[in-house]
Amino acid sequence: MTENKNILTGDRPTGPLHLGHYVGSLANRVKLQDTHKQYVMIADMQALTDHATEPGLIQSSVIEVALDYLSIGIDPNKTIILIQSLVPAISELTMYYLNLVTWNRLKHNPTVKAEIRQKGFGDQVPAGFMIYPISQAADITAFKARYVPVGDDQIPMIEQTVEIVRKFNRTYNTNVLVEPEIISSAVARLPGIDGQAKMSKTLNNAIYLSDPEEVVVKKVKKMYTDPNHLRIEDPGKVEGNPVFIYLEAFDPDREKLQNMKDHYQRGGLGDMVVKKRLIEVLLEFLSPIRKKRKEYEKDKKIIMQMLKKGTSLANEVANQTLKEVKQAMGIVY
Ligand code: TRP
Repeated sequence: MTENKNILTGDRPTGPLHLGHYVGSLANRVKLQDTHKQYVMIADMQALTDHATEPGLIQSSVIEVALDYLSIGIDPNKTIILIQSLVPAISELTMYYLNLVTWNRLKHNPTVKAEIRQKGFGDQVPAGFMIYPISQAADITAFKARYVPVGDDQIPMIEQTVEIVRKFNRTYNTNVLVEPEIISSAVARLPGIDGQAKMSKTLNNAIYLSDPEEVVVKKVKKMYTDPNHLRIEDPGKVEGNPVFIYLEAFDPDREKLQNMKDHYQRGGLGDMVVKKRLIEVLLEFLSPIRKKRKEYEKDKKIIMQMLKKGTSLANEVANQTLKEVKQAMGIVY
């Protein structure tokens, strides 16, 4: 048998993608598409679990996210890009897996817990939201993915998927499902421009891949730095300082960066100088992405055709897995 090099990864389409997505996962996907069989899912059903009252937003974001993928270099000739809701096998698998996970286990998923707090659900958590880790396990296993390149906030989802796979294979004495493993990035998590631990749309602290130049400049200028670095002469902190974390992730000139870090820590280097450098670095990084996006934006019909084609290929794979799953479970009539 040939080695399984399947990848399944994806994003919730609730708006355009940001630098946190890029660092945590998108950069890896661009690399991995040359060596792996990669599926990238636009998870519109998962987006509904916390945006059920805004279906219009999800529909328009599907195209936005696809444009982001294409403009950073995810190549539809190498990567299969698909729309989750158009793959019914995923919903069916979710129904079956639901019986293999306890309610208590779901309540203790750390990412789900954090999101419930962040979104202010209180005791009004949609049932669909509570179970989205199971539907994510269906996403991953439908494609027999061995690898999932995602940010570190997704670790609990992969863990939960592994548990489901083991339980399924053990219970039905089979090896139909494949245990996935996370592919982490060098910088697992990008803080927000406000210094909060995570860049996110909900927290309104993101720089988007599609932000116009002047917006990037404005956002960097108001970025949180070291709160104790009051005067230029003061020694500043580089660790946990978002401006330096971003430079670490994006500045190709490592020597210059090291010099800036040393200078900042010694004292005598102002925040504005460091921010100017970050602006330079980010505009340079985003400029070709923006150009490509402009090209692709011209014909959104072609984008949708590409997504439908990817989805059709995805359905073949997912349907086959579903068939094997039902066979293993003994519900074949
Ligand atoms: N949960 C992911 C996020 O919030 C999106 C996602 C849905 C996903 N299905 C997936 C990621 C499958 C990896 C694999 O960004």
